[in-house]
Amino acid sequence: MFESAPVNPPDAIFGLIEEFKRDSNPKKINLTVGMYQDDTGRTPVLDCVRQAKKQIHDSGNSHVYLPIGGLQNFNELIPNLIFGDAHRVIEQGLACSSQTPGGTSALRVAGETLRSRFGVKRIWISDPTWANHKNIFPGAGLELGHYHYLDAGGTSFDLQGCLTSIARADSGDAILFHAVCHNPTGVDPNAEQWKQIFAAVESKALIPIFDFAYQGFGEGVALDSYPIRTYCETNSDALICSSFSKSFNLYGERVGAITAVGPSREDALAVLSQCKAVIRSIYSNPPTFGASIVSTVFQDEALHQLWLQELEAIRTRICDLRKMFVEAMNQRLPEMNFDHILQQRGMFSYSGLQGKFAQRLKKEHSIYVLKSGRINVAGINANNLDRLCNSIAAVVAATS
Ligand code: LMR
Repeated sequence: MFESAPVNPPDAIFGLIEEFKRDSNPKKINLTVGMYQDDTGRTPVLDCVRQAKKQIHDSGNSHVYLPIGGLQNFNELIPNLIFGDAHRVIEQGLACSSQTPGGTSALRVAGETLRSRFGVKRIWISDPTWANHKNIFPGAGLELGHYHYLDAGGTSFDLQGCLTSIARADSGDAILFHAVCHNPTGVDPNAEQWKQIFAAVESKALIPIFDFAYQGFGEGVALDSYPIRTYCETNSDALICSSFSKSFNLYGERVGAITAVGPSREDALAVLSQCKAVIRSIYSNPPTFGASIVSTVFQDEALHQLWLQELEAIRTRICDLRKMFVEAMNQRLPEMNFDHILQQRGMFSYSGLQGKFAQRLKKEHSIYVLKSGRINVAGINANNLDRLCNSIAAVVAATS
């Protein structure tokens, strides 16, 4: 069976990291995977995390199995982090959560639960979307539908196109939304547009899954859950997939959560029990360390405040990097206006440097961006900015 087995092509994102590692150019620049880097190019350990780790170490916990749904302390924090304290979902206890290994597992569990336990056949994802969504949901046995996302210029959200796609969905289909900081475009619907999208979702009785990987990177921790809060003001039946990779710089610790919202607490718990049955068959139960860090931070008011400050500093620094990048590009290529990048939110910029541009940047300048032209803005710093912008200008001049 394994003789002459075909080699799977490298992953669209992680495959590039491997190529980057092999590149011997000392001036190479990695703008691929969505990982925050500071001015020295390192992904720092947050101070709140450092202190929480010390507390965990001093408590001398042993390495027992967690329950299938993970750490109870951690799970109890998640609904409030998503909804704040005053939302009806919190007042009526309509949301409950299970810890998962990262947001990716939460998405897979969500997809598999909807298919195998609730008979959902298809999920609608935005076009474009995070490359891995196209692996996760077919892997969970769901068909994919694609909803329109960007206008013809490729720089703003296309509400009409999105609504026209949703009109093609069948009642009972699932639909995936990026709650904030759409990956890869950085373009989010505004408040009014979300309301129209949700009206279409309701009229078709679709079930939404919210991919919430960038809480804190848009407008701030509380404001970023606006679409989820708005949807759940008048609706129940939603699944929310949170990630703490980005918001805690805890990428390798795989900390995430799946949250079920139901019409009653009993319903939400019942849905979560179905998720847990799926979890048991995939990875049995999640790892302890990362979720202990997050729950230790949240349970200590001083550490919690420190986390909010550190996350806000990351968010504002990325906004500053965007400004630096746009200013530098507008100087070099005034005929191409890069201002739309200032409206995009989160770690990524959809630069327009796709396909052959991305290929030439890699081959001729050892600058790694995704094939789609997605750039990790958080990989730009004062030391690589000039080389990056000069190289982009050279590639654009040589290609046009
Ligand atoms: C990304 O989009 O770069 C991140 O979400 C990392 C990943 O798993 O692809």
